[in-house]
Amino acid sequence: MSQRVLTGITTTGTPHLGNYVGAIRPAIAASREPGVESFFFLADYHALIKCDDPDRIERSRLEIAATWLAAGLDTSRVTFYRQSDIPEITELNWLLTCVTAKGQMNRAHAYKATVDAAVAAGEEPDANVTMGLYCYPILMAADILLFNAHRVPVGRDQVQHIEMARDVAQRFNHLFGRGKDLFVLPQAEIEESVATLPGLDGRKMSKSYDNTVPLFEGGAKALKDAIARIVTDSKLPGEPKDPEGAHLVTIHDAFADAATRAAFHADLRSGLGWGDAKQRVVQLIEAHVGPMRDRYADLVAHPERIEDILQEGARKARTTATPLLAELRQAVGLRRMVAASQPRTAKEAGAEKSAVPVFKQYREADNLFYFKLTAADGSLLLQSQGFAEGREAGGWVKRFKTEGAAALADAPVTLGEGTDRVAVDAALTALVAAQA
Ligand code: TRP
Repeated sequence: MSQRVLTGITTTGTPHLGNYVGAIRPAIAASREPGVESFFFLADYHALIKCDDPDRIERSRLEIAATWLAAGLDTSRVTFYRQSDIPEITELNWLLTCVTAKGQMNRAHAYKATVDAAVAAGEEPDANVTMGLYCYPILMAADILLFNAHRVPVGRDQVQHIEMARDVAQRFNHLFGRGKDLFVLPQAEIEESVATLPGLDGRKMSKSYDNTVPLFEGGAKALKDAIARIVTDSKLPGEPKDPEGAHLVTIHDAFADAATRAAFHADLRSGLGWGDAKQRVVQLIEAHVGPMRDRYADLVAHPERIEDILQEGARKARTTATPLLAELRQAVGLRRMVAASQPRTAKEAGAEKSAVPVFKQYREADNLFYFKLTAADGSLLLQSQGFAEGREAGGWVKRFKTEGAAALADAPVTLGEGTDRVAVDAALTALVAAQA
């Protein structure tokens, strides 16, 4: 079976160069591996936890979808959808909520960090905690388990959430699986090989440090301006420079092939000025990002195209989600009501013919021994008279099992109510055949 890889992209903010190098590019590359079935989705329900501005929610979903598509996501290989287009996710979220211990949610880092921040600010511990934030890991577990993902590529900060998803899956399997695993236990996957891109000041590129280089926003000019602000040492042109540890070089190398890297390092050692070096970095990144930016602009100008792609993705995703959810509803007991005594349809009766009937021997309050033959659905086919000796009942059962319907000729039995000779003959024939 192919490996299912699934990851969610929270739709807040505008992607920067660090997001591209650290998440988007490696995920798209991984989705091209053979034997991998990828599910990527816009986690817009998760975005609602952090943002209550509808226009920002809308804009961010559009920009992030356009970014992934412009960066080369191949939607014929990858199932690319919006979380909020899959109603099965919220339904599963509830089934999981009912088996998740509150104590486990108390330990979630994201929730604890919010509590710590409130306490530090002298506020009530739960001042800024919505139930959305508190239950965030359960929604994430629903995202993952609904598609039975094996591998979930995430950043380090998300590893605890994947472990929680495993825990919930295990508990659910144990409670409702009856020996069958309803859910695959997912594994977090941290891309060790992907370096985190440094920002303008050398710390990890992050919106919270205000040190980002925009990916598409502001065009080529914004890219150039940002790179001009990258901090370097104060060596002058002509002075040899050490490429190791210069974060301008790290950013360069994230976009360069081996030969271009080697040439850049050698030129810095022999005195290339930082100004010229930055110009080379701008050219290199622009050559990579420029064509994507054009595709991005085109997509953002045609949101209806993105909408079509996402609708098609949702349709594909639901071919997996809908049957699994039906099975889960059945497993927890949310079943259609069908009365046991309801008249059987012709189809059901036909299905039962193929199931094997059973003989039962028992003793009644009258102290006599009896046997009866019941169909697979429990309905009575044959009822014996009472025998003084258990051996007599056993002898008849043995004859039926070897001779089948032939034994009916002289057996002290009556047909069950609502059945007929044809049905009993068929049942006995099936029984003999099953024993052969
Ligand atoms: N919480 C994840 C993040 O902030 C996004 C996410 C939501 C996700 N659902 C997921 C990631 C399921 C992986 C799997 O990065």
